[in-house]
Amino acid sequence: MPDINILGIETSCDETAAAIVKNGRHILANIVNSQISIHEKFGGVVPEIASRKHIENISLVVDAAFKQAGLTYEEIDAVAVTNAPGLVGALLVGLSFAKGFAYALGKPLIAANHLHGHIYANFLEHDDIEFPAICLIVSGGHTSIVYMPAAGEYEILGSTIDDAAGEAFDKVARFLGLGYPGGPAIQKAAAAGQAGKYSLPRVFLNRKDLDFSFSGLKTAAMNLWKKNDQAPNIVNDLAAEFQETLAEILTVKTLRAAELKKANTVLLAGGVAANSALRILMKKEGEAKGLKVYYPSLLLCTDNAAMIAGSAYFQYVKGNFAPLNLNAYASLLSL
Ligand code: KG4
Ligand code: ZN
Repeated sequence: MPDINILGIETSCDETAAAIVKNGRHILANIVNSQISIHEKFGGVVPEIASRKHIENISLVVDAAFKQAGLTYEEIDAVAVTNAPGLVGALLVGLSFAKGFAYALGKPLIAANHLHGHIYANFLEHDDIEFPAICLIVSGGHTSIVYMPAAGEYEILGSTIDDAAGEAFDKVARFLGLGYPGGPAIQKAAAAGQAGKYSLPRVFLNRKDLDFSFSGLKTAAMNLWKKNDQAPNIVNDLAAEFQETLAEILTVKTLRAAELKKANTVLLAGGVAANSALRILMKKEGEAKGLKVYYPSLLLCTDNAAMIAGSAYFQYVKGNFAPLNLNAYASLLSL
């Protein structure tokens, strides 16, 4: 089979991203234009502003991707675009652009699921991943434990019943005055603090199911913060305890799922997979059980288009192309 170059486009939240990936594995270009500095002052992503910034930036990031890859438009074989889940207004910008681009070039369009993209970010950097695998998807909008008997097959074993893990990081960082996005801010504060000085509940850890609940944990952190008169000198210790609590809950339940399904592989995916406490704990505990634990490099954990182009390759091979009336969806009924 000749080399297949796929252009990936990702605009589901606050990153306008374009990438070109060869044969689902080799990143020829990966351009991410982050809007973080714009949304920062609002303490979170403002959907309409995100859409407007995407429309300003989309053609620039696509052109930058072609330049970085050293390819002409004609040298790509398909255009892949995230069409779910995400902010609909934001998704529509990437989707409309991708449709126009594919239509003008006469190339096939591929609909990419943002969460599949996060999972396949692992495959861009590791070529020894074996199935069955347990995947922990932890992002700003999702937290699920997924069983993958084979590539492209998914069974959700458990999910959060309220806040996503990234959302909890963002909310706790917000009331602690640490800024947006909360995950990296909490990680930084935690590095200067000590877990265990304050105690937060390991919510749902003793339950047999593989669901999570982070809303109560966030409230418990807020109550501790208020009880201590919002003293600036407790921020780092509280951040450290919050981060450790989350890492522990996510690790214990993911490894429990691996045992249950007799999977020897654990994959971390999504923005929160960039968290060093989670990466370290999952690797240490997973390897102690004889499992292989993978996570993408930091740049590929958070939103990017390389993961979209990479995951789309598996659809390209199957001839799974999307019609030009493809729509965007805020959420997904299944993976
Ligand atoms: O996957 P992502 O870039 O976007 C979504 O699809 O949601 O994830 C963004 C989330 C945010 O909530 C952010 O605070 C969190 O990932 N995040 C982190 C870290 N880096 C990003 N959470 C914990 N530790 C980090 N280092
Ligand atoms: Zn994401």
